[in-house]
Amino acid sequence: MNQTVRSQFPILKTRTRGNALVYFDNAATTQKPLSVLSAMDTFYRTQNAPVHRGVYALAEGATARYEGVRDDVRTFINAAHREEIIFTSGTTMGINTIVQGFAEKFLKKGDSILLSDMEHHAMIVPWQAAASRLGLKVHFVPLGADGRIDTTVFKKALKKHRPKFVGLTHISNVLGSINPVREMTAAAHKAGAVVLVDAAQSAAHIPIDVQKLDCDFLAFSSHKMYGPTGVGILYGKKALLEALPPFMFGGHMIETVRRERTIYAPLPEKFEGGTQPVAEVIGLGAALSFIRRIGFGRIQKHERTLVSHMLNGLKSISGLTLLGPAKSTDRIPVFSFTLHGIHPHDLATLLDKEGIAVRAGHHCAEILHSALVPDASLRMSLGVYNTVEEIDRAIAALRAIQRKWRI
Ligand SMILES: Cc1ncc(COP(=O)(O)O)c(C=O)c1O
Repeated sequence: MNQTVRSQFPILKTRTRGNALVYFDNAATTQKPLSVLSAMDTFYRTQNAPVHRGVYALAEGATARYEGVRDDVRTFINAAHREEIIFTSGTTMGINTIVQGFAEKFLKKGDSILLSDMEHHAMIVPWQAAASRLGLKVHFVPLGADGRIDTTVFKKALKKHRPKFVGLTHISNVLGSINPVREMTAAAHKAGAVVLVDAAQSAAHIPIDVQKLDCDFLAFSSHKMYGPTGVGILYGKKALLEALPPFMFGGHMIETVRRERTIYAPLPEKFEGGTQPVAEVIGLGAALSFIRRIGFGRIQKHERTLVSHMLNGLKSISGLTLLGPAKSTDRIPVFSFTLHGIHPHDLATLLDKEGIAVRAGHHCAEILHSALVPDASLRMSLGVYNTVEEIDRAIAALRAIQRKWRI
């Protein structure tokens, strides 16, 4: 299936620094297929109008398309109600919406929040800000020796800290490991906590069923799942979203505005203040169709091949230390590592010279990094269009760099 999939991504035919591009930075953002590009182009050329406001045909058409994507997202994550799907600007905004609303409405000085050492800054920083405003305590579950969260340790932390809220990443953007979110959510609920799942890294790789996971909230970004930037999804259980205050105040999220007071609109508009990113939502709809056409069965099968091939290749390089689990199970093709004798930033620059686009740094997960390596790591993150041949090129390039620089 790979050539058929690859041919849908024009950027993969381009060259960089004189070489065919190998794009291994998919955990940061994915490339976009023709169907997404053309859905947005068609929208702007022939369908563009504001949603929910005009009575003219163009506006009604735009509204129908925009709301149609909400139905598609509901199906994609198996939410019970369409009002539980909120369009945001991305995972970061989704998390901030919940953290601010929940903290303001339900938390008081001394209350505890439980996160993990694996969290992206998008989960940690909003809670730290809320904690300093309200006097909350933020606790972290440490990683196990294999770089996974040990559910026994997690359950002990629940018992010890009695958190009101638990924030969990579904899949680590550094280690690629899939957390047992269903089991962890059940344990958190038993302990009386509300659970927010950060699904930024899962939406493109594994099927998400919010009813099965039973999480209270879940957030993800379109641009990490072959859709455009500027739009994301926040899911929340209806009763909880109804109980939370809005995050963004202004037009569109109101029912009536008087000098004395404003009555907010019902869900989902209550959380969609301002002019919506309509073309981006349409692009997201096309990205969902792209994923649906391939199917998670084939995506996961292909990505399992990529995982095994990359793990074998990385293991064959001396002086290479992989962060996190070295087993191919319960993980996606995201690999962070260090190579003895060379800083990850220098290594990334040398790989770029070979046309291989990778990421170096702490990947917005400084707490995780400080638990595993002193500084930065190099991350290769793959998606549905990547191939074993590209992995071979990357492994050969790593070997050549070692030889040339005698490291
Ligand atoms: C696990 C995780 N959470 C949250 C985010 C933030 O996503 P965004 O920048 O699209 O809001 C990212 C992005 O790298 C991520 O990998």
